[in-house]
Amino acid sequence: MDAHASRRSFLRAAAASAAALASGCASASGRSSGSTASSTGASSSTAASSARVVGSNSALRVGVIGLHGRGQDHLAGLRKLADVRVTAICDVDGAVLDKQVAAADKLGEKPHAFRDPRALLDSGEVDAITVATPNHWHSLLGVWAAQRSLHSYVEKPVSHDVWEGAQLEAAAKKHRVVIACGTQCRSNPGMQQAIAWAKGGGLGRLRLARGLCYKPRGSIGKVKAPKQPPAGVDYDVWLGPAPQQLVRREHFHYDWHWQWDFGNGDLGNQGVHQMDLCRWAVGQDALPPQVLGIGGRLGYDDDGETPNTQVVWLGYEPAPVVFEVRGLPTARGSDKMDRFLGADVGCVLHCEHGYVVLNSYEGGYACDADGQRVQQWQAGGDHFANFVAAVRAADPSRLSADAHEGHLSAALCHLGNDSLRQGKALGANAAGASAAWQPELAEAWGRAREHLRANGLDDAVEVRYGALLRPAADGTKHPHRDYRAPFVLEPVA
Ligand SMILES: NC(=O)c1ccc[n+]([C@@H]2O[C@H](COP(=O)([O-])OP(=O)(O)OC[C@H]3O[C@@H](n4cnc5c(N)ncnc54)[C@H](O)[C@@H]3O)[C@@H](O)[C@H]2O)c1
Repeated sequence: MDAHASRRSFLRAAAASAAALASGCASASGRSSGSTASSTGASSSTAASSARVVGSNSALRVGVIGLHGRGQDHLAGLRKLADVRVTAICDVDGAVLDKQVAAADKLGEKPHAFRDPRALLDSGEVDAITVATPNHWHSLLGVWAAQRSLHSYVEKPVSHDVWEGAQLEAAAKKHRVVIACGTQCRSNPGMQQAIAWAKGGGLGRLRLARGLCYKPRGSIGKVKAPKQPPAGVDYDVWLGPAPQQLVRREHFHYDWHWQWDFGNGDLGNQGVHQMDLCRWAVGQDALPPQVLGIGGRLGYDDDGETPNTQVVWLGYEPAPVVFEVRGLPTARGSDKMDRFLGADVGCVLHCEHGYVVLNSYEGGYACDADGQRVQQWQAGGDHFANFVAAVRAADPSRLSADAHEGHLSAALCHLGNDSLRQGKALGANAAGASAAWQPELAEAWGRAREHLRANGLDDAVEVRYGALLRPAADGTKHPHRDYRAPFVLEPVA
């Protein structure tokens, strides 16, 4: 059986099995205080239990975990849906949690409030969770939820490394739950039409998919010495599986994206959306045979560790993917960002007879070889509604972005970063010479160097020329982090 066929049969089996085993949904009311459970990942509930099925007359009870930034979009998106109730909210930062408790109060809602996600998972107050915590918690929470037969919507990137994503995918299958990934472009009809048109040969064969993340990312500053976390944050839980450490950045929230213990740089942040579109467009359902990246954190000296300038080549055949990250502006002192064929954050699908530009989350346009616009698409959908519909049907195959897709697209970002981190220090010019064997990589790095020069960084500026990776096809064969107990992701697969 090929990989597609075996996945389809799993999805059918999951749907059939889940539909056969409906569980009741008690209504929730009142609010518990932030109790702290001491459980680890292992659930006391039967690991073999199937997905919860919510009766058509009862509201789906959802718990939202991580409420600072994206979590508020989750709350708004879920509250719009008639058949959903937010019955629990959770944040390790007491101030962030209190704010959302007060906001819920104003809406006449009384969600149970938790400061520890393990307590929420074990509360019995939810049928499903959504996760908008930092990246290093994503797969862990998705797997722990699955072990409790809870469905989950896990923000992108669904994993912090390749191995974790493979565990998440395996957990969806083993526990027969719905696990959605927060790559919401997948639910937008405009994007679906654009990609289907390009894949269907609208401009002939697709030759190369180019992802672009030209997004301003300034210095995050530099603390004089590592510091204590803000008062009111349960920092042990915030750190979770990451090594014990003090805070090494000025702003506690959000800027963790640029530190390897927690985030995945802009490639795994904004970039994972566009990486997902590229992989979708080239029609690849596996890890690429080869990966190589070049880049560095250039132009300022701050507490960030991840690259702000990066080019990654993913050697899919016949059409490779090239990804370009630029966090610096068009030129030193400018407040503008570069564009490539009209896009700064987006994708360009280079085809035989022209190109398709996906410059929004909801579509884009196609140009012929003379640059004349021949098609355009723009239509939004509702990714949260898609998740809820899949949960209600107990059918993961209804998801527009399931754990499998989420894992693969996140993995491409992780591989790009892994290549860079395993590479060697070289001058920007020498890195270009080393890349000469791979024309698409060399071309993109050549433009990146021009961009660096415009930012006052000369040809000798030190970058990393990545290791040429030949990734194991099986994600579970990749290395994983050293989990800090008790925040351990036990192998599922
Ligand atoms: N799909 C999208 O378009 C989109 C957009 C923005 C962010 N995101 C994703 O959402 C996630 C969150 O991003 P953000 O900008 O809101 O980050 P943030 O740092 O601003 O907020 C994260 C919140 O999670 C809380 N938290 C941390 N660990 C927790 C835990 N174990 N349990 C409960 N709460 C915990 C923090 O206290 C904080 O309030 C990221 O992974 C990001 O990639 C997705």
